[in-house]
Amino acid sequence: MIRLFDPLDCAETNRAIIPLPTITYVPDNKSVESEEGETILQTSLRLGIPHTHVCGGNARCSTCRVIILDGLENCSQRNNREQVLAHRLRFSPQIRLACQTSINGDVTLRRLVLDAEDVELTSQLTPDKTPISAGEEQKIAILFADIRKFTAFSESLPPYDVIHVLNRYFDQMGKVINLNGGYIDNYMGDGLMALFGVDHPQESTLSAVRAGLGMLEAVEQLRAYLENIYGMSFQIGIGIHYGEIVLGSIGAKDARRMTAIGDAVNLASRVEQANKEYGTQLLVSEHAYDEVRQHARVGREFADTALKGKSGKYKLYEIVGLKT
Ligand code: FES
Repeated sequence: MIRLFDPLDCAETNRAIIPLPTITYVPDNKSVESEEGETILQTSLRLGIPHTHVCGGNARCSTCRVIILDGLENCSQRNNREQVLAHRLRFSPQIRLACQTSINGDVTLRRLVLDAEDVELTSQLTPDKTPISAGEEQKIAILFADIRKFTAFSESLPPYDVIHVLNRYFDQMGKVINLNGGYIDNYMGDGLMALFGVDHPQESTLSAVRAGLGMLEAVEQLRAYLENIYGMSFQIGIGIHYGEIVLGSIGAKDARRMTAIGDAVNLASRVEQANKEYGTQLLVSEHAYDEVRQHARVGREFADTALKGKSGKYKLYEIVGLKT
Protein backbone atom coordinates (compact mmCIF):
# COMPACT_ATOMS: atom_id res chain seq x y z
CA MET A 1 0.00 0.00 0.00
CA ILE A 2 1.27 3.44 -0.90
CA ARG A 3 1.04 5.92 1.95
CA LEU A 4 0.69 9.54 0.82
CA PHE A 5 2.79 12.26 2.44
CA ASP A 6 0.81 14.03 5.17
CA PRO A 7 2.28 17.33 6.51
CA LEU A 8 0.39 16.77 9.81
CA ASP A 9 2.41 13.59 10.40
CA CYS A 10 5.57 15.58 9.97
CA ALA A 11 4.37 18.19 12.46
CA GLU A 12 3.56 15.37 14.92
CA THR A 13 7.06 13.97 14.54
CA ASN A 14 8.69 17.35 15.05
CA ARG A 15 6.62 18.00 18.15
CA ALA A 16 7.65 14.68 19.61
CA ILE A 17 11.37 15.39 19.39
CA ILE A 18 11.26 18.87 20.98
CA PRO A 19 12.52 18.21 24.53
CA LEU A 20 10.40 19.42 27.41
CA PRO A 21 12.00 21.84 29.89
CA THR A 22 13.45 20.17 32.96
CA ILE A 23 13.38 21.04 36.64
CA THR A 24 16.40 19.96 38.69
CA TYR A 25 15.74 19.75 42.42
CA VAL A 26 18.59 20.48 44.87
CA PRO A 27 19.77 18.81 47.07
CA ASP A 28 17.81 15.80 45.71
CA ASN A 29 19.74 16.08 42.40
CA LYS A 30 16.63 14.85 40.64
CA SER A 31 15.75 16.16 37.17
CA VAL A 32 12.23 15.87 35.77
CA GLU A 33 10.38 17.18 32.73
CA SER A 34 7.66 19.78 33.15
CA GLU A 35 4.62 19.53 30.89
CA GLU A 36 3.50 22.56 28.91
CA GLY A 37 1.40 24.96 30.99
CA GLU A 38 2.12 23.09 34.21
CA THR A 39 3.25 25.00 37.31
CA ILE A 40 6.36 23.87 39.15
CA LEU A 41 4.17 22.66 42.00
CA GLN A 42 1.98 20.65 39.62
CA THR A 43 5.10 19.01 38.16
CA SER A 44 6.36 18.11 41.63
CA LEU A 45 3.04 16.62 42.70
CA ARG A 46 2.48 14.75 39.43
CA LEU A 47 5.82 13.03 39.83
CA GLY A 48 5.55 12.34 43.56
CA ILE A 49 8.23 14.83 44.62
CA PRO A 50 7.40 16.07 48.15
CA HIS A 51 6.49 19.74 47.88
CA THR A 52 4.69 21.58 50.67
CA HIS A 53 1.57 23.54 49.61
CA VAL A 54 -0.43 24.42 52.71
CA CYS A 55 -3.00 26.68 50.98
CA GLY A 56 -3.53 24.23 48.12
CA GLY A 57 -1.80 26.34 45.48
CA ASN A 58 -3.72 29.58 46.02
CA ALA A 59 -0.82 32.01 46.60
CA ARG A 60 -1.82 32.56 50.21
CA CYS A 61 0.62 30.57 52.39
CA SER A 62 4.06 30.90 50.73
CA THR A 63 5.03 27.37 51.82
CA CYS A 64 5.54 26.20 48.22
CA ARG A 65 8.26 28.82 47.72
CA VAL A 66 11.44 27.85 45.89
CA ILE A 67 14.70 29.62 45.22
CA ILE A 68 15.69 29.52 41.57
CA LEU A 69 19.39 28.70 41.54
CA ASP A 70 19.68 28.66 37.76
CA GLY A 71 17.36 29.52 34.86
CA LEU A 72 15.37 32.40 36.33
CA GLU A 73 14.97 33.76 32.79
CA ASN A 74 13.03 30.59 31.93
CA CYS A 75 10.37 31.24 34.58
CA SER A 76 7.03 32.88 33.85
CA GLN A 77 6.54 36.47 35.02
CA ARG A 78 4.96 36.87 38.45
CA ASN A 79 1.18 36.98 38.16
CA ASN A 80 -0.85 39.38 40.33
CA ARG A 81 -1.44 36.89 43.11
CA GLU A 82 2.24 36.03 43.41
CA GLN A 83 3.16 39.69 43.15
CA VAL A 84 1.04 40.55 46.20
CA LEU A 85 2.67 37.92 48.41
CA ALA A 86 6.18 38.61 47.05
CA HIS A 87 5.78 42.30 47.84
CA ARG A 88 4.47 41.66 51.37
CA LEU A 89 7.27 39.19 52.20
CA ARG A 90 9.94 41.16 50.31
CA PHE A 91 10.94 38.22 48.15
CA SER A 92 14.06 38.68 46.06
CA PRO A 93 13.53 37.93 42.32
CA GLN A 94 14.94 34.41 42.79
CA ILE A 95 12.25 33.45 45.31
CA ARG A 96 9.19 32.18 43.48
CA LEU A 97 5.91 30.58 44.41
CA ALA A 98 5.96 27.14 42.81
CA CYS A 99 2.17 27.11 42.64
CA GLN A 100 2.12 30.20 40.41
CA THR A 101 5.25 29.72 38.31
CA SER A 102 5.63 27.74 35.10
CA ILE A 103 8.78 27.34 33.00
CA ASN A 104 9.69 27.45 29.32
CA GLY A 105 13.31 26.27 29.70
CA ASP A 106 15.48 24.39 32.18
CA VAL A 107 15.69 25.54 35.79
CA THR A 108 17.49 24.39 38.93
CA LEU A 109 15.78 25.12 42.21
CA ARG A 110 15.66 24.36 45.89
CA ARG A 111 12.48 24.08 47.95
CA LEU A 112 12.67 26.24 51.05
CA VAL A 113 10.03 24.53 53.15
CA LEU A 114 10.98 20.94 53.76
CA ASP A 115 9.35 19.75 56.96
CA ALA A 116 6.63 20.53 59.50
CA GLU A 117 8.91 22.86 61.42
CA ASP A 118 9.60 24.93 58.30
CA VAL A 119 5.87 25.06 57.60
CA GLU A 120 5.19 26.49 61.03
CA LEU A 121 7.90 29.09 60.50
CA THR A 122 6.97 30.23 57.05
CA SER A 123 3.28 29.75 56.45
CA GLN A 124 1.35 33.00 56.17
CA LEU A 125 -1.68 31.09 57.40
CA THR A 126 -0.06 30.47 60.81
CA PRO A 127 -1.30 32.78 63.59
CA ASP A 128 1.20 35.04 65.37
CA LYS A 129 2.89 33.96 68.60
CA THR A 130 1.61 35.21 71.96
CA PRO A 131 3.51 38.28 73.23
CA ILE A 132 5.75 37.93 76.24
CA SER A 133 5.04 39.34 79.72
CA ALA A 134 7.30 41.45 81.99
CA GLY A 135 7.86 42.21 85.68
CA GLU A 136 9.86 44.69 87.86
CA GLU A 137 13.19 44.89 89.68
CA GLN A 138 14.21 41.42 90.77
CA LYS A 139 16.86 38.73 90.77
CA ILE A 140 16.68 36.49 87.78
CA ALA A 141 18.86 34.23 85.63
CA ILE A 142 20.10 35.72 82.36
CA LEU A 143 21.21 33.54 79.47
CA PHE A 144 23.18 34.76 76.46
CA ALA A 145 23.77 32.59 73.38
CA ASP A 146 25.82 33.34 70.30
CA ILE A 147 26.60 31.44 67.11
CA ARG A 148 30.29 30.70 66.65
CA LYS A 149 31.87 31.85 63.37
CA PHE A 150 28.51 32.80 61.93
CA THR A 151 30.09 35.43 59.66
CA ALA A 152 32.07 32.77 57.79
CA PHE A 153 28.95 30.58 57.57
CA SER A 154 26.70 33.38 56.31
CA GLU A 155 29.21 34.76 53.79
CA SER A 156 28.88 31.67 51.65
CA LEU A 157 25.06 31.75 51.52
CA PRO A 158 22.56 34.03 49.76
CA PRO A 159 21.00 36.53 52.21
CA TYR A 160 17.60 34.87 51.99
CA ASP A 161 19.08 31.55 53.14
CA VAL A 162 20.89 33.29 56.00
CA ILE A 163 17.59 34.71 57.24
CA HIS A 164 15.90 31.34 56.82
CA VAL A 165 18.63 29.58 58.83
CA LEU A 166 18.57 32.23 61.55
CA ASN A 167 14.79 32.05 61.83
CA ARG A 168 14.91 28.29 62.11
CA TYR A 169 17.70 28.51 64.72
CA PHE A 170 15.90 31.17 66.77
CA ASP A 171 12.63 29.28 66.57
CA GLN A 172 14.21 26.08 67.90
CA MET A 173 16.08 27.92 70.65
CA GLY A 174 12.88 29.76 71.59
CA LYS A 175 11.00 26.49 71.96
CA VAL A 176 13.63 25.06 74.33
CA ILE A 177 13.75 28.30 76.32
CA ASN A 178 9.96 28.50 76.64
CA LEU A 179 9.76 24.85 77.61
CA ASN A 180 12.04 25.63 80.55
CA GLY A 181 10.07 28.63 81.77
CA GLY A 182 12.12 31.40 80.14
CA TYR A 183 11.57 33.75 77.23
CA ILE A 184 13.75 35.43 74.64
CA ASP A 185 14.00 39.09 75.59
CA ASN A 186 16.24 40.33 72.83
CA TYR A 187 17.98 39.40 69.59
CA MET A 188 21.36 40.83 68.67
CA GLY A 189 22.33 39.75 65.14
CA ASP A 190 22.92 36.03 65.53
CA GLY A 191 22.85 36.27 69.33
CA LEU A 192 20.01 36.18 71.81
CA MET A 193 19.31 37.05 75.43
CA ALA A 194 16.79 35.02 77.44
CA LEU A 195 15.44 35.65 80.94
CA PHE A 196 14.38 33.07 83.53
CA GLY A 197 12.44 33.77 86.71
CA VAL A 198 10.60 36.95 85.74
CA ASP A 199 7.20 35.44 86.44
CA HIS A 200 8.26 32.45 88.58
CA PRO A 201 11.51 33.15 90.50
CA GLN A 202 11.85 29.62 91.93
CA GLU A 203 14.77 27.69 90.48
CA SER A 204 15.31 30.29 87.77
CA THR A 205 19.01 29.43 87.35
CA LEU A 206 18.36 25.71 87.23
CA SER A 207 15.76 26.36 84.53
CA ALA A 208 18.30 28.44 82.60
CA VAL A 209 20.91 25.67 82.84
CA ARG A 210 18.36 23.10 81.70
CA ALA A 211 17.51 25.35 78.78
CA GLY A 212 21.20 25.83 77.94
CA LEU A 213 21.80 22.08 77.83
CA GLY A 214 18.61 21.62 75.77
CA MET A 215 19.75 24.31 73.33
CA LEU A 216 23.06 22.51 72.78
CA GLU A 217 21.14 19.32 72.01
CA ALA A 218 18.81 21.17 69.63
CA VAL A 219 21.78 22.70 67.82
CA GLU A 220 23.24 19.22 67.28
CA GLN A 221 20.01 18.28 65.46
CA LEU A 222 20.03 21.52 63.53
CA ARG A 223 23.61 20.83 62.47
CA ALA A 224 22.48 17.64 60.71
CA TYR A 225 19.82 19.64 58.83
CA LEU A 226 22.34 22.31 57.82
CA GLU A 227 24.96 19.78 56.72
CA ASN A 228 22.34 18.12 54.54
CA ILE A 229 21.17 21.34 52.89
CA TYR A 230 24.30 23.49 52.80
CA GLY A 231 27.19 21.09 53.48
CA MET A 232 28.29 23.08 56.54
CA SER A 233 27.01 24.04 59.99
CA PHE A 234 27.92 25.94 63.16
CA GLN A 235 28.13 25.67 66.94
CA ILE A 236 27.02 28.01 69.71
CA GLY A 237 28.34 29.36 73.01
CA ILE A 238 26.10 29.97 76.06
CA GLY A 239 26.72 32.06 79.19
CA ILE A 240 24.48 32.22 82.29
CA HIS A 241 24.56 34.60 85.25
CA TYR A 242 22.21 35.06 88.22
CA GLY A 243 21.80 38.65 89.47
CA GLU A 244 19.62 41.68 89.95
CA ILE A 245 18.15 43.51 86.98
CA VAL A 246 15.51 46.13 86.32
CA LEU A 247 12.89 45.46 83.70
CA GLY A 248 12.38 48.74 81.89
CA SER A 249 10.41 50.01 78.93
CA ILE A 250 12.96 51.08 76.31
CA GLY A 251 12.64 52.73 72.91
CA ALA A 252 10.92 55.54 71.04
CA LYS A 253 7.48 56.55 72.30
CA ASP A 254 5.50 54.49 69.84
CA ALA A 255 7.90 51.54 69.70
CA ARG A 256 8.76 50.73 73.30
CA ARG A 257 9.49 47.27 74.56
CA MET A 258 10.33 45.79 77.94
CA THR A 259 13.90 44.65 78.41
CA ALA A 260 16.32 43.82 81.23
CA ILE A 261 18.81 46.49 82.27
CA GLY A 262 21.67 46.25 84.74
CA ASP A 263 25.20 45.14 85.36
CA ALA A 264 24.03 41.54 85.66
CA VAL A 265 23.05 41.64 81.98
CA ASN A 266 26.52 42.84 80.95
CA LEU A 267 28.14 40.18 83.08
CA ALA A 268 26.05 37.40 81.54
CA SER A 269 27.09 38.61 78.09
CA ARG A 270 30.78 38.56 79.09
CA VAL A 271 30.46 35.06 80.52
CA GLU A 272 29.10 33.91 77.17
CA GLN A 273 32.02 35.51 75.34
CA ALA A 274 34.52 33.67 77.55
CA ASN A 275 33.48 30.43 75.79
CA LYS A 276 35.61 31.53 72.82
CA GLU A 277 38.71 31.80 74.96
CA TYR A 278 38.21 28.49 76.76
CA GLY A 279 36.78 26.44 73.89
CA THR A 280 33.67 25.65 75.95
CA GLN A 281 29.98 25.69 75.06
CA LEU A 282 28.22 26.43 78.36
CA LEU A 283 29.75 28.58 81.08
CA VAL A 284 28.08 29.96 84.22
CA SER A 285 29.20 32.65 86.66
CA GLU A 286 29.95 31.90 90.31
CA HIS A 287 26.59 33.35 91.44
CA ALA A 288 24.78 31.14 88.98
CA TYR A 289 26.79 28.12 90.03
CA ASP A 290 25.90 28.73 93.69
CA GLU A 291 22.25 28.37 92.68
CA VAL A 292 22.69 25.02 90.92
CA ARG A 293 25.68 23.37 92.63
CA GLN A 294 23.46 20.57 94.00
CA HIS A 295 22.31 19.64 90.50
CA ALA A 296 24.99 20.55 87.98
CA ARG A 297 27.78 18.38 86.66
CA VAL A 298 30.85 20.54 86.21
CA GLY A 299 33.51 20.02 83.58
CA ARG A 300 36.31 22.51 84.09
CA GLU A 301 36.58 25.44 86.50
CA PHE A 302 38.27 28.67 85.49
CA ALA A 303 39.49 30.75 88.43
CA ASP A 304 40.67 34.37 88.22
CA THR A 305 39.18 35.01 84.81
CA ALA A 306 39.41 38.53 83.44
CA LEU A 307 36.24 39.43 81.56
CA LYS A 308 36.38 41.99 78.77
CA GLY A 309 34.88 45.33 79.87
CA LYS A 310 34.69 44.26 83.55
CA SER A 311 37.10 45.02 86.37
CA GLY A 312 38.21 42.35 88.81
CA LYS A 313 38.54 38.59 88.41
CA TYR A 314 35.72 36.09 88.07
CA LYS A 315 35.34 32.37 88.62
CA LEU A 316 33.53 30.51 85.85
CA TYR A 317 32.26 26.93 85.65
CA GLU A 318 31.76 24.78 82.60
CA ILE A 319 28.46 22.87 82.91
CA VAL A 320 28.38 19.56 81.08
CA GLY A 321 25.12 18.08 82.37
CA LEU A 322 22.79 17.62 85.33
CA LYS A 323 22.97 15.00 88.07
CA THR A 324 20.18 12.47 87.77
S1 FES B 1 0.83 26.55 47.95
FE1 FES B 1 0.37 28.26 49.20
S2 FES B 1 1.36 29.88 48.18
FE2 FES B 1 1.77 28.19 46.90
